[in-house]
Amino acid sequence: MYNRAGTGFDHADGHHRHATESRPPRLNEPVQTRGRGRLLVSDRYEIRPVVLSDADVLLEWRNDAETRRRARTQQVIDLADHVSWLAAALADESRLYRLLVSTDGSVELPLASVRYDCEAGTGLAVVSILVAPTARGRGIGRVALERTLPELRQWQPDLSAVLAVVHKDNPASRRLFQSTGFTYRDSDGPWQNYVLAL
Ligand SMILES: CC(C)(COP(=O)(O)OP(=O)(O)OC[C@H]1O[C@@H](n2cnc3c(N)ncnc32)[C@H](O)[C@@H]1OP(=O)(O)O)[C@@H](O)C(=O)NCCC(=O)NCCS
Repeated sequence: MYNRAGTGFDHADGHHRHATESRPPRLNEPVQTRGRGRLLVSDRYEIRPVVLSDADVLLEWRNDAETRRRARTQQVIDLADHVSWLAAALADESRLYRLLVSTDGSVELPLASVRYDCEAGTGLAVVSILVAPTARGRGIGRVALERTLPELRQWQPDLSAVLAVVHKDNPASRRLFQSTGFTYRDSDGPWQNYVLAL
């Protein structure tokens, strides 16, 4: 995955290249996840549906200072509000909400969430992506997008495009969408719209 940047990955499933050049941290370095012990970000990724019991981890990522700095709504969200929002989101049939996890078969480490909100009558799905703060800058965002876009296409074959709304001061997000095939469409104040034709 990461080889374009001269780092340690060749494939979407994260096989390591034996690189010695300067690179971001390897995915198999240990990361500390609050309440979940010390786990490895391994080579085995899986995509699974988000469930209500993911509320804690999703809220932790959402309330992270860096996430809030790039978000439309910047205040800290409390657990009760978040759980009601998540329950409604999971019941909403116009949304595809997925979690990328790293797993050794028995324990899983949540790495990123991707949500596609299909807008009635427009042929558009709006994408929202959130990578665990401890896993950012390691190519996880790209893995999460590339692993979920095929399911979106299969689930909604009539969609014409995916829309990503990116704050102008969010270079990682802009690079992520551009390198996944999205192109700039237009702006609304600080918000830049990038589109991927399906
Ligand atoms: C934005 C976000 C999803 C990116 O995911 P990520 O896994 O951290 O990003 P990746 O490691 O896949 O990197 C994607 C690209 O951005 C570049 N990049 C990563 N961090 C960067 C940074 N801080 N500044 C500039 N570019 C950066 C990478 O080099 C890569 O570029 P390349 O394709 O040219 O190699 C993630 O950082 C995140 O969850 N941020 C907080 C929430 C958010 O902003 N969501 C997006 C809302 S639109």
